[in-house]
This record gives sequence, structure tokens and C-alpha cells, in this order.
Amino acid sequence: MKLLRLIFLSLLVLGVQPAFAEDSLLSPETMNYIGYGTIIVALVAVIIALFLVLKAVKLITKAILGPEEAAAVAERKKAESSERWIKLLSLKPMSEEHTLILEGEYDGIQELDNPTPAWFMYLFYVTIAFGIGYLLIYHVFKTAPLQYDEYKNEVAIAAKEKAALLAKTGAAVDEKTVKLTTDAAVLTSGKSIFTTRCSPCHGMDGQGVIGPNLTDDFWLHGNKIGDIFKTIKYGINTMPSWEKLLSPKEISDVSNYVKSIHGTNPANPKAPQGVKVAD
Ligand code: HEC
Repeated sequence: MKLLRLIFLSLLVLGVQPAFAEDSLLSPETMNYIGYGTIIVALVAVIIALFLVLKAVKLITKAILGPEEAAAVAERKKAESSERWIKLLSLKPMSEEHTLILEGEYDGIQELDNPTPAWFMYLFYVTIAFGIGYLLIYHVFKTAPLQYDEYKNEVAIAAKEKAALLAKTGAAVDEKTVKLTTDAAVLTSGKSIFTTRCSPCHGMDGQGVIGPNLTDDFWLHGNKIGDIFKTIKYGINTMPSWEKLLSPKEISDVSNYVKSIHGTNPANPKAPQGVKVAD
């Protein structure tokens, strides 16, 4: 019993946790499933407990009344309940059936004009009430959005989340938004990209081979971080475009690396190309 209580309590704590914990160990979906599961288990437990209490009350009543009276009460209850059912189904007792017989007889078969069952009529009235409520909420007072508006709202929210995610992962960086940085992780990543992708044309140290020297003060296409990003992304003349081979973040990293090697005076520099640009 103690073990059972422990399991139940820990489930309850786990289930209630989503309301309080910002970062929980489990994913929000899992937390929700545990939460709903716990609530359902708790409800089932309550229902079982109620049945047990009812049973106990019945046993006690029986004991107090004595066997004969208890039997009489049970009999009365049974009659009442069957009456209730008959009412709900709008059934007439057999003895009154002759009042319902419709005129006409077909090969000895007669029809009864039974009324529509009460439960069906109640259901019908509920649908009318629902319809009126629906009309008022969605079309008269417009307190809740219709399906299409709901869809548009959700798409707008998703677009916002997507933009935020892209901004966070750097996937949305372009020549206009790229930032100059000396962050070590960025430069390390930029260097490794430069070594594998760019050094065949620009030299291991950026001193220039087929492509120009990237460490001097002379530039063909501008030395601003945005200019460099643009040259790398779209390519120009014989400088290839890297848009399809590198991610925006990688282009940003290697652009920053190019900025970082300025003025490093590597050995065997290529002759200056372009115009001198002050920093
Ligand atoms: C196929 C050879 C080649 C490769 C590979 C190459 N480049 Fe270039 N790059 C060039 C040439 C050639 C130019 C000069 C373009 C011109 O004449 O306008 C150039 C120009 C540039 C410029 C502009 C320099 C200036 O003076 O304005 C930058 C920046 C640059 N490259 C960076 C890179 C980076 C970063 C990589 C690697 C991702 C790379 N390049 C890969 C050949 C190459």
C-alpha cells in the first residue's frame, strides 16, 4: 500500500510539474501525457472509491432495516427505476398499447404510433441550443475566430517562430545583416573553411595565388564585412559563388576569418590588386 501511494504521489508530482517547471527533463509533450494520464488514473480511482462507499452504505442500510424491509425497499427501487427507463424511452405499458394502434391492417400486421423517445428529443433540443450558441459566438458577436482566421493566426505565429529560430541559428544571415566579430569559435570555424575551400586560390595564409592577396590593404570589391560576404556568397568574375556550398553561417564565419587575417604580412604575397582602402 505504501509503495502504491509512493507511485501515485510521484506520478502526481510529475503530472503537475509542467505548470511550474520551465525546463523539465522530459519534453513538454511527454509531460503533458503524464499529466493527463495521472488525472485519468486519479479520476478512475475516485470513481472506484465512490462505488465502494455506495456498496458500504447499502450493506449498512440492509443491516439496519432487517432482511424483510430491505427486500421491500429493493423491490420499490427496481419498480421506480424501470418506470424511469420507460419514461425516458417514451414507452407505453403493454396494457395501454391498444390506444396507439394506427388504422389499417396489412396482412394481419398493425402499426403502433409510438412517440419519439424523450432522450432523442432532448438531444434534438441540445443541438438547437448549440446551434444558437454557435451562431451568436462565431457570427453575431464574433468572440472566437472562424476556422480560416484560426488557420491564418497559427500560420502567422509559426512564421514568427521560424524567423526567430533562423535568426538564432544564423541561417538567416545575409550581406546586410552579417556582423563583424573576433569570436574565437567563429574564427576557428572560418579558418577551417578557408583552409579546405579557399586556400587553393588564395593561399594557405591568404597571400594570394590565382585569387588576390586577402591580407593587404588593396581590395577589388570592398573590405567591409558585408562586401566580403557578398563576394563570397555570389562570386564575381573568376571567384566562384559559394551560396550553394556553404551555409549562411559558414559564409559569415569565413568572412570574419578573412577580416581577421588583414595585415598579417604572409610570406610570398601576391602583388596588390584593386584600390587601397583604409580600414
Ligand atoms: C577558383 C579559385 C577561387 C576560390 C576557390 C576562391 N576564390 Fe576568392 N577570389 C578568386 C578570384 C580570381 C578573385 C578575384 C575576382 C575578381 O577578379 O574580381 C577572388 C576574390 C575574392 C575576394 C575579394 C577580394 C577583393 O580584393 O575584393 C574575397 C574576399 C575572396 N575571394 C574570398 C574567398 C573565400 C573566402 C573563398 C573560400 C570560400 C574563396 N575566395 C575561394 C578566386 C577564388
